[in-house]
Amino acid sequence: MTTRSSVRHTAFASAWQTLLPIGLGPAGGYRRLAWNDADLACRQWFRAQAQARDLILDEDGNGNQWAWWGEPGAGAVVTGSHLDSVPGGGAFDGPLGVVSGFVAIDVLRERGVTRKRPVAVTNFSDEEGGRFGIACIGSRLMSGDADPATLLARVDEAGVTMGDARRRGGLLPDAAGPDPARLGRIATFVELHIEQGRRLVDLDVAVGVATAVWPHGRWRIDFAGRGDHAGTTRLADRRDPVLPMAETILAARRAAHDHDALATVGRLAVVPGATNAIASHATAWLDARAPGSDTVRRVVEAVGGAATRAGAEHGVGVEVAEESWSGGAHFGAELRERLAATVKDRLGAVAVLPTGAGHDAAILAAHVPSAMLFVRNPTGVSHDPAEHATLEDCLAGVEALAAVLEDLISEDPIPEAPVS
Ligand code: HGY
Ligand code: MN
Ligand code: MN
Repeated sequence: MTTRSSVRHTAFASAWQTLLPIGLGPAGGYRRLAWNDADLACRQWFRAQAQARDLILDEDGNGNQWAWWGEPGAGAVVTGSHLDSVPGGGAFDGPLGVVSGFVAIDVLRERGVTRKRPVAVTNFSDEEGGRFGIACIGSRLMSGDADPATLLARVDEAGVTMGDARRRGGLLPDAAGPDPARLGRIATFVELHIEQGRRLVDLDVAVGVATAVWPHGRWRIDFAGRGDHAGTTRLADRRDPVLPMAETILAARRAAHDHDALATVGRLAVVPGATNAIASHATAWLDARAPGSDTVRRVVEAVGGAATRAGAEHGVGVEVAEESWSGGAHFGAELRERLAATVKDRLGAVAVLPTGAGHDAAILAAHVPSAMLFVRNPTGVSHDPAEHATLEDCLAGVEALAAVLEDLISEDPIPEAPVS
């Protein structure tokens, strides 16, 4: 094995193995929810990785962590992803991009690559929205795409506000908000991520480049009925909110099929949740996605209509509220083609593909030149403990990222326009 691959292999194994146990639940899934103990431990892991490489650590008021190779400054090439997970999520979604960023720097340093630009590895906070329900918090706040007060007031299932949760992580609520200084440093952002699908395995290619992230969103649907005794209430007298909720879940599947889109209800809440009581209230959360925003909107409209009709039939009040909207992104063709050519040159093969999964890169793409690399996922499964990529493909991803970073940091920074 050449020195090159041994550095890559050793560094990857070391970084990966120290992160792997953090937040792992008994059933094999991760529970690294924003600002919980596991997420705080992941943030400590990030600090240790930066320190071990003598990278300059910067933690911003939006909870994003940056590890700088070179002084933080303009013209920077930034790579990274997130360390939080969905409840019960897999090991690779997010962490693979952060670990690969650190190891790509190891590889470039070991090869003596001359850096003409600052480089940073990032951990964007609360990408999954697994605790407070809105995706890509850290990158949205930095980019000015979200109102801090609205976000900080969000509460989790225990009634803890995002502001209080962040405070526990050492962040002052009023530190959240647009960060043009840090955003302005980024000349190019490249996020490496495990593919959440089967395109690469079907094409038999280890690394791909993203063309687009689909528009997608999350809606909360509330069903207000009347609680009562399961054993004494006639069927004709019931206002059971679970019945229209059940019809709405099936309507979501039909709407997705009819509009060639994706719609999922994977999260439910029923109050009081007693076996022998008719529920008084039920809540379903809808996740809807499609290649185009209009299609997503049509799916949500169809589901909302079905919910309202079913509610009327059962004497149940229905409310549909949008909780999170991501407009998706079409990544710039020039940067995408440049990355594809670099990856193909280094690895011998590359594919280009869209994704229905959301990413911080799609938020940043509206503000700075951004791109994504995907690493093959043999089963395509994600947001589940079965999520997996082979070590060989992970190392191919590091090699591809190192090649892309080497190309980008070898370019002279564009001189800053003189301040007039
Ligand atoms: O929901 C998503 O697509 C991403 O994992 N946040
Ligand atoms: Mn995810
Ligand atoms: Mn992710």
